[in-house]
Amino acid sequence: ELATVLTIDGPSGAGKGTVSRIVARRMGWHYLDSGALYRAVGVAASWANLDISDAAALVRCTFDTQVEFVERAEGDLRVMVNGVDATDELRLETTGAVASAIAAIPEVRAALKERQRAFRRAPGLVADGRDMGTVIFADAPYKVFLTASAEERAQRRHNQLSQKGVCVNFDDLLREIMARDARDAQRTVAPLKPADDAVLIDTSGMGIDDVVARVLDLLPAPA
Ligand code: C5P
Repeated sequence: ELATVLTIDGPSGAGKGTVSRIVARRMGWHYLDSGALYRAVGVAASWANLDISDAAALVRCTFDTQVEFVERAEGDLRVMVNGVDATDELRLETTGAVASAIAAIPEVRAALKERQRAFRRAPGLVADGRDMGTVIFADAPYKVFLTASAEERAQRRHNQLSQKGVCVNFDDLLREIMARDARDAQRTVAPLKPADDAVLIDTSGMGIDDVVARVLDLLPAPA
């Protein structure tokens, strides 16, 4: 019998990652950061100096790239790409842009399908991404779609980066976020859109705790 799944989809910066991790921890469920898989392929492709317009090479690279999630300490999830800790490189804005381009290739998405489904194990899974509720776990009993205005998402990203001492221009960030939204929503395979049966939560002006509480309300009480 298949384990239960909560899918959390939405655009970048809506708070999916943070909310998904907290909910998974509270429920004692597994966690899938599907964006990290696309990012990992992007990193491997740039390590191999692949041409981003060479779809066939990128598809081969997807099959060849090993990705492992390792929890080094509580809450410290590291992502190993072909055996190398690539966690920091994975988070770069440039990696996200490459991932988003690669994610538009249908064969790449198909190649990652089963790998994502393998994360579905008892007692449950929180799956974070763009097409978790529409494609990968279309039969999931619990589905959430998190949104927030582009301005709010750019502001959050700006705060995160400044905390890390990274200096970026707000308008550049906003432009990048809007460009990535458009690419993710307009692609022909698995475009970003809420599943028909997803619960929509607009997190603009909401704190993380409030969002987590709203999501937990949808789930059975933790075991
Ligand atoms: O969520 P994250 O920002 O890490 O995802 C990076 C990129 O990977 C996204 O912009 C999106 O294009 C792609 N992606 C996807 N499907 C997913 C997760 C991520 O297409 N399930």
